[in-house]
Amino acid sequence: MTTTIAGSASQGGDSAPAGPADSPFVRACRRLPVPHTPVWFMRQAGRSLPEYRELRAGVPMLESCRRPELVREITLQPVRRHGVDAAILFSDIVVPVAAAGVDLEIVPGTGPVVARPVRDAADVDLIRPITPDDLSFVDEAVRLLVADLGDTPLIGFAGAPFTLASYLVEGGPSRTHARTKALMYGAPEVWHALCARLAEITGQFLRVQVDAGASAVQLFDSWAGALSEADYRRYVLPHSAAVLAGLADAGVPRIHFGVGTAELLGAMGEAGADVVGVDWRTPLDAATVRIGPDKAVQGNLDPCVLFAPWPVIETEVRRILAEGAATPGHVFNLGHGVLPETDPEVLTRVVALVHEASAR
Ligand code: CP3
Repeated sequence: MTTTIAGSASQGGDSAPAGPADSPFVRACRRLPVPHTPVWFMRQAGRSLPEYRELRAGVPMLESCRRPELVREITLQPVRRHGVDAAILFSDIVVPVAAAGVDLEIVPGTGPVVARPVRDAADVDLIRPITPDDLSFVDEAVRLLVADLGDTPLIGFAGAPFTLASYLVEGGPSRTHARTKALMYGAPEVWHALCARLAEITGQFLRVQVDAGASAVQLFDSWAGALSEADYRRYVLPHSAAVLAGLADAGVPRIHFGVGTAELLGAMGEAGADVVGVDWRTPLDAATVRIGPDKAVQGNLDPCVLFAPWPVIETEVRRILAEGAATPGHVFNLGHGVLPETDPEVLTRVVALVHEASAR
């Protein structure tokens, strides 16, 4: 049996899995029987952990993503501490965009900020295609991690074209995505050229992670919920589908996630996902009806519930497990990322509860 890192979820006994491809997380993604419902948390590596804040002190976010040893340690921290069923690479959705020559930084408390927002076709042409050599630091970090993690799977990830385009067109985070939509409706040929370029870049980012040994990928379209289903299908789905189709031969589960996407769940599944991530607004049993029987679901505890008294958290976790049991496959997660103010001990307790309450 291969070793798992100290403190990671025990999968022992006679049913010890043969590597990460047979882990509860990957099995649940594939809708296969599991010994317990697997659990991990979006943004599990980050500011909720004091050991993260200590390591990151004085190192800018993008710079930290380019140091493989640092990425390794930050990625492992929540696996050791919480015993989650999967690690997620410490990086950011804008890392490959920066590698493509876009001048941007990640501002603490704000997010990605772009020096020169994209407004026309000439701006799109300045975003150059990338090669795996541009992301050699990602390849190195993933290889280090896969060696450390043993049976625990590593999730690779990337940003979907719409969410990346929103940062590039707005120049930073936006509530309304008004400039993004103005470009989409007003200059559809520029919009499609931009998304096609971003699909290529973000697809390369995923390919590097999978080739280096990632066991699954998650495509984050965090802000897709800003769109109607008709606009999503017309302006966004083809580009996300291109990214996911580019990985069809890789043999790893593909998770597709966005926030506020109740009306888009079916379409996001059609984009080529094996697993659809669901936020806290839609119960998983209702979500699976929209998504269809041939896909697993991931989610969906409201991250704010973690600030409630424990009995409330426990009731909510059990409700989600019961609703997840009515789906073809369930990966427990939050409905969006861990908030920085979250008590990490509560996260550890949620992992233990999910494992214990779902043991079969
Ligand atoms: O643990 C993990 O989930 C893996 C690491 C990860 C980060 N960003 C690290 C990070 C992942 C998967 C992301 C994805 C990401 N980045 C998304 C999609 C997921 C989502 O939350 O919807 C988006 C929209 C971004 C863009 C971005 N980068 C934002 C909105 C922020 C937060 C800004 C802030 O300070 O509140 C970042 C910075 C960022 N990315 C941090 C981390 C740990 C915080 C950096 C810090 O410590 O200051």
